[in-house]
Amino acid sequence: MKQLKAILDKHKIEMLDDLIKCIQIPSISTTGSYEEEVHSCAQHLTQHLCQIGFENVQLLQKNGHPTVYADWLHAKGKPIVLIYGHYDVQPVDPLEEWHSHPFQPEIRDNYLYGRGATDNKGQLFMQLKALEALFRTNQTLPINVKLLIEGEEEIGSTTMPEILQDYSELLVADLIVISDTAMLEEQVPAICYGLRGILGFELSVQGPNRDLHSGSIYGGTVQNPIHAITQLLGSMRDETGFITIEGFYDHIVELSKEERRNFQSLPFSSEQLKADLHVSNLFGEEGFTPLERVWVRPTLEVNGISGGYQGEGIKTIIPAKATAKITCRIVPNQNPHDLKACIQKHIEANTPPGVNIEIYWDSHSNPYFISPDHPLILQAAQSLEYVFQKPVQFIRAGGSIPAVEMLHNQFQIPIILVGFSHSSANVHSANENLSLQRFEDGILALCHYYLQLGNDIGD
Ligand code: BES
Ligand code: MN
Repeated sequence: MKQLKAILDKHKIEMLDDLIKCIQIPSISTTGSYEEEVHSCAQHLTQHLCQIGFENVQLLQKNGHPTVYADWLHAKGKPIVLIYGHYDVQPVDPLEEWHSHPFQPEIRDNYLYGRGATDNKGQLFMQLKALEALFRTNQTLPINVKLLIEGEEEIGSTTMPEILQDYSELLVADLIVISDTAMLEEQVPAICYGLRGILGFELSVQGPNRDLHSGSIYGGTVQNPIHAITQLLGSMRDETGFITIEGFYDHIVELSKEERRNFQSLPFSSEQLKADLHVSNLFGEEGFTPLERVWVRPTLEVNGISGGYQGEGIKTIIPAKATAKITCRIVPNQNPHDLKACIQKHIEANTPPGVNIEIYWDSHSNPYFISPDHPLILQAAQSLEYVFQKPVQFIRAGGSIPAVEMLHNQFQIPIILVGFSHSSANVHSANENLSLQRFEDGILALCHYYLQLGNDIGD
């Protein structure tokens, strides 16, 4: 470890520079307008992986953004670790809220600012730089490694199932390691053992065939689609956040007493969260603590709504159309396909008269759970504790990583989620950042973990 630390210290600036170069490529996957940049980010990674010492570098592509594959398989008799990450990022708007340009990364007070600085380029580079440091120190790796870095995570990993099936032999491994989750406290390491799934859809409500004068002739005689959509959305959730769609909560696994106790032992301050967000109250389903609501209860949230006139001044119309984007977070054992049927039925039964509804189903993914007592999880915890010098917190996450359940489904091997994000990293938000200290700690912890997996720890 001593030699390794020296190598990491020596190449500190260079490692950060490599991450910065990757962040500079605006690989936004969620809109069609960055197709080229997404592609060039994948290309950039293939070159970088070759430079680090990986072999068999190639792009796996179906009818979507390319997935980067590379491997190094010369550690005879040692486990094969499949490391998954994603190089695509979320959009940057509202741009005016960034203190520096999202794709011209800037370091301020030991934090690196830029889109993808944490989610997921920063965390992906912790993995890559850990492996590079191991190569540099020993001219070899303690384990066999396969890398799978995709460009569609932020849009639901739509072509991943096909890729996993078509390349199932190439991707054979003993375990999967992913750094794309968060820690609960800034200095305290965490391993995540559960993710929520997601189900997204768009509702479009069509009223009259054109905008109408809201007084003359029409006012008082025609259904207003904005009122219709708000009524419909209002019928899906009560005032406590409980979802009123019949069948929505069917099959949900109840939280065990043991897990509830673990949640209670974890630090969470409602006061701090309220102060941070400038809200007077927290909100959510009754009978559950905030952590329980975020980690093990499902939600239904309107992400955006539009329709009618929003420009300056008064405009007296009954608009022709209204739309809303909605996502549900789902938990074990909810099934997105069953939920679609429940939602469809609810919409049909609750659509106000005088409008037509269309539903467009967006991406979905299944929730994931692995027992926190799994020996491989406990082993990973040891490495985190060695570097952070603090006991690991075993946590779940409210977010989703669609590929996790897909990988589980395809390979049935353990998936270890060792993540280093934190709420202050502003992922998906303006001023996304990465603590440089955490970048270094993460790299060192992963080095330690891989040495441990190969039983190769020296002093
Ligand atoms: N890294 C996040 C998910 C995450 C964040 C897990 C924090 C645990 C803690 C991931 O990149 C993400 O944002 N996923 C999307 C998926 C969706 C667009 C299909 C999400 O959860 O919204
Ligand atoms: Mn994300």
